[in-house]
Amino acid sequence: MEIFLDTANIDEIKKGVDWGIVDGVTTNPTLVSKEQALFEERIKEICDVVQGPVSAEVVSTKYEGMVEEAQKLAKLSEHVVVKIPLIPDGIKAIRTLSRKGIKTNATLVFSPLQALLAAKAGASYVSPFIGRMDDIGNTGMTIVEEIMDIFINYGYDTKVIVASVRHPQHVLEAALIGADVVTMPFGVLEKMFKHPMTDIGLENFLKDWEKYQEYLKNKDKN
Ligand code: E4P
Repeated sequence: MEIFLDTANIDEIKKGVDWGIVDGVTTNPTLVSKEQALFEERIKEICDVVQGPVSAEVVSTKYEGMVEEAQKLAKLSEHVVVKIPLIPDGIKAIRTLSRKGIKTNATLVFSPLQALLAAKAGASYVSPFIGRMDDIGNTGMTIVEEIMDIFINYGYDTKVIVASVRHPQHVLEAALIGADVVTMPFGVLEKMFKHPMTDIGLENFLKDWEKYQEYLKNKDKN
């Protein structure tokens, strides 16, 4: 399973990449606006750090504007994947961009049929928003399962990015059903390391090791 960080924060991305377990990054207009950085510069910076797929979202809602923005974004780095919202103009833009060899990530996906349209149009990725589905009383992960079934049925090579991830349980569920990618906030990645038994176990090993060193010192003296 590929792990992407869902952030535009460069320090978080550097930390994750330094751990050697981050394959890519997703951003969106909200995440970028939180950083108060210049959009295109930040995307280039992220691409340099992660050296893997980096999703950057268009803000136009019309076909022509989306294609124009996407072409500009794609020129920033070979790693750029252009995020396009799942609306009719977006699907048309994905089709055009895929014919031009520009990678796309269909975003704001909330149903398996939306994902089917994106795959048919040639999207490289689709991003079902799991947490936001859970927020309104649905089971977000069911949509991921259905999307994966549809893609297998028809042999689409569009990758599924489990997005809007809120906690490690989402990551576990996504991994168990074999999702291609999970994009997560940095805090969720940090929590994946954590287990109280690991901390207690390590503390005890180190204490025992110290006692053993004491024993060796005293043994030489006697
Ligand atoms: C996906 O690519 C989006 O950036 C993101 O996962 C949205 O998540 P949110 O629901 O936490 O805003």
